Amino acid sequence: MAQPVIAVLNGPNLNLLGTREPETYGVETLKDIEVMLDGLAGELGVVLEHRQSNQEGDLVDWVQGYGARAQGIIINAAAFTHTSVAIRDAVAAVSVPVIEVHLSNIFAREDFRHHSYLSGVSAGIISGFGADSYGLALRAIVSMVP
Ligand code: DQA
Repeated sequence: MAQPVIAVLNGPNLNLLGTREPETYGVETLKDIEVMLDGLAGELGVVLEHRQSNQEGDLVDWVQGYGARAQGIIINAAAFTHTSVAIRDAVAAVSVPVIEVHLSNIFAREDFRHHSYLSGVSAGIISGFGADSYGLALRAIVSMVP
């Protein structure tokens, strides 16, 4: 049987990881995180598809598309977490598990980051463990995939 596919979706400015506010987001690049995740995915018996965009509509399209053809979605919507009803509605519309991820602990930061439009429609949220947030999310979502 084919291995389950998990989509890993990253939002605005996460293409700058490695140089972007490293004291907050760490020194790993997005490529470093993807390579680490692909290694873990191999151990866990799943295949990952990685996407990043600075455009809100791309994330809506990917949530819809992978919601129909993947077995789970990990999403760091970055700043759109705090602003996007459209991404929330897309997450609510799909039936596969969606896990919300953040590198930083959004609840320990500015007030405007404390509210997430995605948390209420996600299976869970992992926030504050740097690049490890993604690995923890991958382990969690694999445990949810039948
Ligand atoms: C972030 C937290 C958001 O508040 C911020 O806008 C980001 C990254 C994180 O991974 O910690 O761009 O999602």
